Amino acid sequence: MKLSDIDLDLRLPAPPLLLVSVLVIGAFVPATIASAIWYKRNKMTAEPRYHIFQDMDASIAVGAQEDSVVFSDGRGARPYAPGTVAWGRHTAAPDPGMLKDDDLAYRGFVVDPETGEPVRVGEGETATPEFLGGFPTIVSVNLRFLEHGQEQFNTFCMPCHGRDGLGEGPVHDRATLLVEQNGNPTGTAWTAPANLTDNKFAEGEYPNGHLFNTITHGAGNMAGYGSQIGVADRWAIVAYVRAIQAGSRSDAVAGVPHDHDGDGVADH
Ligand code: HEC
Repeated sequence: MKLSDIDLDLRLPAPPLLLVSVLVIGAFVPATIASAIWYKRNKMTAEPRYHIFQDMDASIAVGAQEDSVVFSDGRGARPYAPGTVAWGRHTAAPDPGMLKDDDLAYRGFVVDPETGEPVRVGEGETATPEFLGGFPTIVSVNLRFLEHGQEQFNTFCMPCHGRDGLGEGPVHDRATLLVEQNGNPTGTAWTAPANLTDNKFAEGEYPNGHLFNTITHGAGNMAGYGSQIGVADRWAIVAYVRAIQAGSRSDAVAGVPHDHDGDGVADH
């Protein structure tokens, strides 16, 4: 048999016209849309862009000193509401008419009324602000205040420092576990939260104002909580930390009534 005897009609059927049209149009339409978007995004024009999501780029806020049709006096900037009190400043003697001008209450240390700088005790590197011992006059320390401090402490400090202040809260436990399991691939270290019952945080070493300042601004690797916790709440935490510290001393426990038989009445 010769090669020419074999029927070699191997041509495959051409695709139907309908399929060809759909494919051509299907490729053409997105290409047109894509080119139109590309063109619109790259063309220079004095006209503002189309804004599909109408967010605050197109805010109608009134600019400084602008007029406004909203108010009958036509002014955009509104005068102070009656009774507005300005924030205190520290270049003049404390003015009780000013908001937050009581430095002991709002900062926890003494500020020089002339310079506005903290008054420092000690020399050079080791100088610290003159921190308040005791509590400012805006709070009164009683059982309710302490209970409030406990609640605030357990909300804001317990996750790291633990309920007992020893520095072994759930966040610390979890971080320690992760470091144990994964090593330290990113090279960042976990700094253990301080043990708040340590002697160096006792009242004589670390005055209440210092504690308040640490809660407000943080210290070392600990972030500040001034923006999350109110001023009085921070002082309540200070009071509660003192209670924890007192409770951690064995001599303090001796003075606390016990109920060993559990009948709800103190034994002595
Ligand atoms: C997210 C974890 C975390 C929370 C929440 C936290 N701390 Fe800390 N705290 C730390 C760490 C970590 C340190 C140690 C910082 C260092 O040594 O760099 C520390 C240190 C401290 C110190 C010692 C500061 C010093 O001068 O050495 C005090 C006091 C303290 N914390 C009090 C508090 C109180 C009160 C709260 C609650 C308002 C609180 N912390 C909430 C993690 C935390």
